[in-house]
Amino acid sequence: MKRYSESISGKGVSMLRLEDVNTYYGYSHILQGVSLEVKEGEIVVLLGRNGVGKTTTMKTIMGLQPPKAGRVFFMEDNIAGLPPHKISRKGISLIPEDRRIIPNLTVLENLKLGSLVHSKADERDALLKMAFDYFPRLKERVKHLGGNLSGGEQQMLTIARALMGRPKLMLIDEPSEGLAPKIVHEIMEIIKQLQKDGRTILLVEQHMEIAMRLSSNQRAYIMEKGRIRMGGSLDELSCQMDEVVRCLGVKI
Ligand SMILES: Nc1ncnc2c1ncn2[C@@H]1O[C@H](COP(=O)(O)OP(=O)(O)OP(=O)(O)O)[C@@H](O)[C@H]1O
Ligand SMILES: [Mg+2]
Repeated sequence: MKRYSESISGKGVSMLRLEDVNTYYGYSHILQGVSLEVKEGEIVVLLGRNGVGKTTTMKTIMGLQPPKAGRVFFMEDNIAGLPPHKISRKGISLIPEDRRIIPNLTVLENLKLGSLVHSKADERDALLKMAFDYFPRLKERVKHLGGNLSGGEQQMLTIARALMGRPKLMLIDEPSEGLAPKIVHEIMEIIKQLQKDGRTILLVEQHMEIAMRLSSNQRAYIMEKGRIRMGGSLDELSCQMDEVVRCLGVKI
């Protein structure tokens, strides 16, 4: 079987590279030597069943749960150990699985919070326009309170708010979780569009069939118990379905 490290093509500029990362919660050794790479302009999918360490990988990149050992390179700077606000300022944005929108602020106010660093009003207005171009549904709900939105709309708001900060790299943690198939489809289409527009994304997903909606040359890693077990293009992985099914513990 092809090793995941060999599946990284020599082409393209490295945006994010984890090298032998080890992360703990107290004495629990969760990430056990995770290495992965995301190149500029790619969507890379991180797949794995419940509790294998996908969110911990995101938190480690973001500095929320710093690694005890290993390196995290962002555009060739080792950012391991930096505090989250510094990592965020470098251009990484986390869209967490629990969709932390502010329920008693309106859609517009939530979005403006994402652009606090941009002091100029015209720049902020341009960012708002861009967010509404991706999510016309949010434009219709602009005065609604965040807490009154549906789950799908809240997910859209979390992604839109992250876009307001003009991130270079978006870490999107299980955007499909708990949403109806039609909304999952809409969100996956928007994620594909974000990539077409040049953005770089690390996407966590539990379901191979949702990942397969991306283009077949997109790369993915499969995690099992805090380690990367498999990696390659979605096409390559789909040729090893038995192993994928074993790792993900589901029928596809
Ligand atoms: N704050 C914490 N303290 C202690 N253990 C934790 C903490 N957060 C997560 N864990 C444990 O770390 C392991 C990995 O959790 P993580 O949330 O990274 O998994 P995941 O792959 O994102 O799972 P899911 O698909 O359920 O979101 C699990 O065993 C979990 O119980
Ligand atoms: Mg998770």
